Amino acid sequence: MSITRVGIIGSGIMGSGIAEVAAASGHEVVLRSRSLESAESMKAGLAKSLDRQVEKGRRSAEDAAEVLGRVSTTTELSALADCDLVIESVVEDLGVKTALFEELDGIVNADAIIATNTSTLPVVEMAMATGRADKVCGIHFFNPAPAMSLVEIVRPLTASDETMAAAIAFAETCGKEPVEVSDQAGFIVNALLFPYLNNAIRLFDGGVATKEGIDAAMKGGCGFPMGPFALLDLVGLDTSLAILDALYEEFRDPNYAAVPLLRRMVAAGTLGRKTKVGFYDYRK
Ligand SMILES: NC(=O)c1ccc[n+]([C@@H]2O[C@H](COP(=O)([O-])OP(=O)(O)OC[C@H]3O[C@@H](n4cnc5c(N)ncnc54)[C@H](O)[C@@H]3O)[C@@H](O)[C@H]2O)c1
Repeated sequence: MSITRVGIIGSGIMGSGIAEVAAASGHEVVLRSRSLESAESMKAGLAKSLDRQVEKGRRSAEDAAEVLGRVSTTTELSALADCDLVIESVVEDLGVKTALFEELDGIVNADAIIATNTSTLPVVEMAMATGRADKVCGIHFFNPAPAMSLVEIVRPLTASDETMAAAIAFAETCGKEPVEVSDQAGFIVNALLFPYLNNAIRLFDGGVATKEGIDAAMKGGCGFPMGPFALLDLVGLDTSLAILDALYEEFRDPNYAAVPLLRRMVAAGTLGRKTKVGFYDYRK
């Protein structure tokens, strides 16, 4: 099946990035947010990002206007009815996601694919909340979506080969490098990345080094483009905690047991870049 019209649910960090990627690669995009204000602010952010690309000579002004023209915003799930593919990118909470899949199943065309951008949650549970479990898979973009080339295509036990092939083809059309992975918490990247991020918090909390020192060490010593605390702030501490909790729930491995400091920072509302304070302060 060919995918031309893409619905995206959630206008947070990832929903916005995925909307940009899909529109820039020629797809019609319908972005659904619960509030029109956040959908419109996402579109304003996209306009700004496109302007910067024009200034840097990466895109013509006409091309930028066409990309922006392909994105429409809505607060209504019913506006996604005629999409070929819907990707949800709302909060990392299984209850919220399964309820959304159940509702979408009654709205979206029967032959459309419904995908999740979850980082760790069981895709099969979202699939089973619908009457089209064969047409549900994970399409997991990385942050920031316009810049990161990897997309994990997650195969739950229920997905058909046609669905997987269409999801892989969609990621390729977006200019990404898809990697297929089975539906196990954390897939590839987060299963390997999050014990490292969690243990970095443990080192800091234990007074072994400052967060600046740990970040500098992992950049200078391992050649990583950013250190663990800068990355945690980019991902969002609430999302990071939800990922660790889902990994721990699945494997009971102590490396996945969130360090208490992370849970306390989330309780305090210091979530990283999105709230302007996390391990670092972005208010200046
Ligand atoms: N942040 C990352 O680095 C990253 C990377 C890859 C995938 N993801 C995944 O993408 C998804 C979204 O993460 P994000 O980083 O964009 O989060 P975010 O906090 O930036 O955005 C979350 C979005 O969900 C919406 N939302 C919150 N509660 C909701 C509810 N009850 N019903 C409907 N919508 C609700 C919010 O309004 C917001 O639009 C999660 O599944 C996350 O695991 C995140």
